[in-house]
Amino acid sequence: MNDSTLAERYGPWAVIAGGSEGVGAEFAALLAADGVNLVLLARKPEPLRDTAERCRALGIEVRTAIVDLTAPTMMADVDAVVDDLDVGLLIVNAGANSYRHEVAGADLAGLRSVVELNVMAPLALAHRFAGPLAERGRGGILIVGSMSGFTGSAGLSVYGGSKAFSRIFTEGLWVELREHGVDVLQLILGATRTPAMARVGLNFDAMDDRVSDSRTVAELGLQQLPHGPVQVIESNALAELPPQPADRAATVLENHRLMQRLMKG
Ligand SMILES: NC(=O)c1ccc[n+]([C@@H]2O[C@H](COP(=O)([O-])OP(=O)(O)OC[C@H]3O[C@@H](n4cnc5c(N)ncnc54)[C@H](OP(=O)(O)O)[C@@H]3O)[C@@H](O)[C@H]2O)c1
Repeated sequence: MNDSTLAERYGPWAVIAGGSEGVGAEFAALLAADGVNLVLLARKPEPLRDTAERCRALGIEVRTAIVDLTAPTMMADVDAVVDDLDVGLLIVNAGANSYRHEVAGADLAGLRSVVELNVMAPLALAHRFAGPLAERGRGGILIVGSMSGFTGSAGLSVYGGSKAFSRIFTEGLWVELREHGVDVLQLILGATRTPAMARVGLNFDAMDDRVSDSRTVAELGLQQLPHGPVQVIESNALAELPPQPADRAATVLENHRLMQRLMKG
């Protein structure tokens, strides 16, 4: 970033979809420390309340809303809490719903929920804020992606596909908004220690020391936001897969092996 602070560049309000835990909570704390007021969206009330309190203690205003981003009412729920605010930054962090099943035999509703969270929700949110941000000529949109969006893997076909959409969508949005002074970034995570991943039991030990922590990832994301369209977290175990490989079969199989090591059971 130039010499401008986060508040100058992205204030006075930031909306974080998935702002209660993990990387989202760290984005919140970093923005709060720099004086940006926050709207935090998530489903579970307790982490939402805890993160809001931690941020309020830094002297900023925080609004929270319990929103399921996969619900048909989600945009109305978001509008109800942001409508009177001057929002300078949208962060879409929620998105680890990978519904880890192979397509054959899976519940279609489960597969669709991945698309709702990782395709439809970011689309609706970006659509909601892109126009106003372009009009005010300042601000940012950061969407969190995944290394799975580069390379297919069994049991992650829909998740990987949704993150591929997210990456390409964000790249296009970056082109569309840059001439309006709005920064856009897809922040691509690999294995990262978050409460959600702890709950699903990822075998981080299999990835040696190349598992990122949420704070570092959030810091890098905010640092790189003015330098879109894409930032891959280089320190993680999956980043060694080349994004545009000549040999797709070898890459897909190598990714599959890495995923097998990472997932327990
Ligand atoms: N952690 C990793 O190893 C890893 C690797 C690659 C990419 N990523 C990406 O990093 C981002 C964050 O992942 P994460 O591991 O922290 O897990 P996550 O399940 O995406 O949780 C992050 C935040 O989003 C909220 N959230 C999740 N589903 C939601 C929904 N349907 N509606 C509203 N809020 C929702 C969570 O709170 P609630 O659960 O209370 O709603 C939490 O505040 C995701 O986009 C993920 O794809 C993570």
